[in-house]
Amino acid sequence: DERYDLVVVANRLPVDFTTDDDGAISWKRSPGGLVTALGPMMRASEGAWVGWSGAADTEDDPFDADDIRCVPVGLSAAEIELYYEGFSNDTLWPLYHDVIAPPSFHRQWWEAYRKVNRRFAEKAAALAKEGAVVWVHDYQLQLVPAMLREMRPDLRIGFFNHIPFPPLEIFSQLPWRRQVVQGLLGADLVGFQRAGDAANFIRAVRRLTDLTTRGQMITVTDDEARRDMPARHVRAAAFPISIDSAHFDALAQTPEVQARAREIRAELGNPRVMMLGVDRLDYTKGIRHRIKAYGELLADGRLTVTDATLVQVASPSRENVDAYQQLREDVEGLVGRINGEYGEIGHSAINYMHHSYPAEEMAALYLAADVMLVTSLRDGMNLVAKEYVAARSDDQGVLVLSEFTGAADELGRGALLCNPHDIDGLKDIMVRAATMEPRESRKRMRRLRRAVLENDVARWSQTFLGVLTALPSRFPDRE
Ligand code: G6P
Repeated sequence: DERYDLVVVANRLPVDFTTDDDGAISWKRSPGGLVTALGPMMRASEGAWVGWSGAADTEDDPFDADDIRCVPVGLSAAEIELYYEGFSNDTLWPLYHDVIAPPSFHRQWWEAYRKVNRRFAEKAAALAKEGAVVWVHDYQLQLVPAMLREMRPDLRIGFFNHIPFPPLEIFSQLPWRRQVVQGLLGADLVGFQRAGDAANFIRAVRRLTDLTTRGQMITVTDDEARRDMPARHVRAAAFPISIDSAHFDALAQTPEVQARAREIRAELGNPRVMMLGVDRLDYTKGIRHRIKAYGELLADGRLTVTDATLVQVASPSRENVDAYQQLREDVEGLVGRINGEYGEIGHSAINYMHHSYPAEEMAALYLAADVMLVTSLRDGMNLVAKEYVAARSDDQGVLVLSEFTGAADELGRGALLCNPHDIDGLKDIMVRAATMEPRESRKRMRRLRRAVLENDVARWSQTFLGVLTALPSRFPDRE
């Protein structure tokens, strides 16, 4: 049996399985920010990645894909429904994003969540060498750290939450709030995107357990600690995630991507201003607010379809969850109405695409866009904002960025910050972005690029793992 020094545990493997009509299985890169963030580090180190294939009842033999050792955790159709679509994406996701959509609480979903978390923990326990580092990711697996510590007290366990951690008043709605906090406290280091998320977690620990905290440190006195073990400390802190900035920067400078960017603008009829939105089709992203603001600008005559066009890429996501089906109806209805009202032959108001594109096409879209609209109502980080900046080595383009994203902490000084709930304010900012003097936009983009190129994803993972491995060991004889 192979054993590893570093084991990553995430709900999804870095690749997704699809079965085509004649039964052949193929894989492609998984959606979302997580793979973008961890792929480079995993390719560089000799580690294993434990995760789900994205389909029901797939084989669970380990394999290599994209140069990463993948160890699948199989999920049945029922588990996908209860653990993934249910508890993860219809309970935790809306709860952790400020209840933008109402979370559903079902005891059966919670049972499935516990059961599936245990399977992930068991897989990781069987793969890790003595004293190895296990890095657990995101809200789908919050019970894994404590389960894993029970099985393997020798391990160093890190947890990183990619989405926001909610204020206590909202988190407290969760019927299983104590179990979730206890699950996370199985880690030595609990990482969050923003300092505010870490503070929310520490507040939850203070209010929901009788543990003591001091700054970022939590002192744990669990059963294990009472059995003659030295007290255990858990650290909770912020580690803002990023992208492979240099890779994106280089990709956007290839002649193919640059030619494609010019082609995109020509196909759009060479508008004076191309605005762009790129999101998973998710209600946290503020897509409706953005489209509404754009439609009103056309209605007011402050923008015209020949002058300005909006390109919206909305990649399909979690399509079995009701709130996502409802969102699709809403967005597509809105797009249809605005196009019907203001579109002209050869000039539709909104170019809406409900599919995802490879990185090359994304880079070309970013390069083509004068204004990038990131208007999330709540977002852990938002890597699209960082990708846009990394693609703009020409120092052009304006980033409109919601203050409710993690990215606003680092990019707030170069971007135009907005409150997407304030439609009038958003409209003014969109017009300001569309008419900004090149001198100002260049200055802002340079500032943005310094931030994004400096804090890239390699630095993020090195920092997290560096802090995790530097924490004092409870087993000094093993060092
Ligand atoms: C966010 C989450 C990830 C998730 C991704 C895509 O980025 O933080 O954990 O993988 O969305 O969502 P999905 O449900 O398709 O995995």
